[in-house]
Amino acid sequence: MKLGCCYYPEHWPEDRWADDAARMAAMGLSLVRIGEFAWSRIEPEPGHFDWGWLDRAIATLHGAGLAVILGTPTATPPKWLVDRMPDMVAIDADGRPRGFGSRRHYCFSHEGYRAECRRIVTALAQRYGQHPAVVMWQTDNEYGCHDTVLSFSDAAASAFRGWLAARYGTPEALNAAWGNVFWSMEYRSFAEVDPPNLTVTEANPAHWLDYRRFASDQVAHFNREQVNIIRAHSPGRDITHNFMGFFTEFDHHDVGRDIDVATWDSYPLGFLEQFWFSRDEKAAYLRQGHPDIAAFHHDLYRGCSGGRWGVMEQQPGPVNWARFNPAPLPGMVALWTLEACAHGAELTSYFRWRQAPFAQEQMHAGLLRPDSTEAEAAPEVRKAAARLAGIGPQVTARAPAALVFSYEAAWAVGIQPQGQSFRYLELVFECYSALRERGLDVDIVAPSADLSGYRMVLVPTLPIIPDGFAETLAGLISPVLIGPRSGSKTASFSIPEDLAPGALKAAIPLAVTRVESLRDGIAEPAEGFAVTRWREDVTSGLSPEITDGAGRGVVYRHGPIRYCAIWPDRALLRLLVERMAGEAGVDLFDLPEGVRVRRTGSHVFTFNYGAEPVAVPHIGATLAPASCHIAPR
Ligand code: GAL
Repeated sequence: MKLGCCYYPEHWPEDRWADDAARMAAMGLSLVRIGEFAWSRIEPEPGHFDWGWLDRAIATLHGAGLAVILGTPTATPPKWLVDRMPDMVAIDADGRPRGFGSRRHYCFSHEGYRAECRRIVTALAQRYGQHPAVVMWQTDNEYGCHDTVLSFSDAAASAFRGWLAARYGTPEALNAAWGNVFWSMEYRSFAEVDPPNLTVTEANPAHWLDYRRFASDQVAHFNREQVNIIRAHSPGRDITHNFMGFFTEFDHHDVGRDIDVATWDSYPLGFLEQFWFSRDEKAAYLRQGHPDIAAFHHDLYRGCSGGRWGVMEQQPGPVNWARFNPAPLPGMVALWTLEACAHGAELTSYFRWRQAPFAQEQMHAGLLRPDSTEAEAAPEVRKAAARLAGIGPQVTARAPAALVFSYEAAWAVGIQPQGQSFRYLELVFECYSALRERGLDVDIVAPSADLSGYRMVLVPTLPIIPDGFAETLAGLISPVLIGPRSGSKTASFSIPEDLAPGALKAAIPLAVTRVESLRDGIAEPAEGFAVTRWREDVTSGLSPEITDGAGRGVVYRHGPIRYCAIWPDRALLRLLVERMAGEAGVDLFDLPEGVRVRRTGSHVFTFNYGAEPVAVPHIGATLAPASCHIAPR
């Protein structure tokens, strides 16, 4: 795994570049990502390019032995461009334009902006496509960051109408699919259809689902345009995009198919603070992040682009954007680096080289402080680089457990939660954690993945069953767990004719006759677990394998396949993982709290995410807080 950093030569006087580059190389870095926000310096006036500074910056980095990842600058269109076509900005759900003065102020559907992106990407790719320093391209920056996937602009509305016409052919077909007879919502032509925002009460969930699918396709298409241009002018170079954490607004499997390496931006402390974790977890892992946050995304993104992935931005210290921004425990930056390697990353790049003293992110740490002295992370990077050199290249093997992840499932649950604490990402994360805390390695895969080589398969929930998926599950001989709400919707967001789990009846014979959701704090006790959040009534010829306190079925089993009819709490997940592993003959570990294990082809990595030293039986040693033990397998 190579190490790198994110660098902004345009932020610093040119006479500092050579020293920066030399220090990067001395720290053990070999990659530098640049350029992704530099449009106003690359093209200060319309049609007038200033390549000089970028030529010299790349030459300086190259001269120090560093390879360059060059970003396309399309996340930050300059002011002159926005003034030339003011309708290129996205419109938010309340109908307000997303103005100039930060970043990502564009609508994916605006044809004029797309043409500008093709123009700037072509110019960049022509100039640097064959440059010996440029080894990888990054398209744009974090598609969707700051809530920018959905736009409700005229450009989006008109593109949506075209998308609907292509999907449904006739307005009658659309009306039938969406059930528009309800509340007299029928359309006579596609031209009559608007985006689903600004309705009096909720819009039709089928309307929302198609709007989300459409918006996701727009992101993929926007990205594909850049990829095609780069491939033409820069053959043989890898293309990546830097995805985000806990983010499901577009289908990353779709975008992942078009690029070579899926990278993501890892900010474990910010994510712990911003997402659903309990107060206790936020306190226990304040300076480390929950032990599964980074690993979850590593395993997710490894499955998004054919196995090649990396970390484009690694948190090096306090960030600026969470509600609270603690500093990592000493050792954590090295631990995060080694954890990425253990999951098969080909690069980890720190964000950013030097903390900026100006503008929005001046409170965001870097490897250097604004005065160029080394920040706390710098010696850890050197240490991590030395340990990586010591173990050599790592190979990733297929994990024993597969977790099926679907972006469409996240949209379906989000559009119609039915109970506000039914959160898709949380459910998947809990399943992941239940596997990881018993020492299992996990591959997070798309529903279309080949599941046949896995020893156990978990489908946390999959409301819309893709063609062929039920048959795939029915053909597996390994234990499978299917979570609640699976098969509960058709592709056009209706209840299946024969009730949930719809097509999944091919895998397990049962029908869901009623669902209920429970408010936070309600926990109806059962033996060894509790019913919280969600419960389904099931009729089936099968007798339940597990029941609740009142004797109602909770888990049904048909051969190797189980269906869970409630939101599975941690205790139930633990029990199910044990049963499935027992049936599959997979060994489990009794790991102390906060300890995680990950195997590569040659090594076993053991991590202590705890803030205290902990005795770890399988290595026969005590692990210091925020430390990693590496042993040959
Ligand atoms: C990422 C983004 C970077 C920077 C960073 C700060 O979301 O890609 O440009 O803003 O966060 O943590």
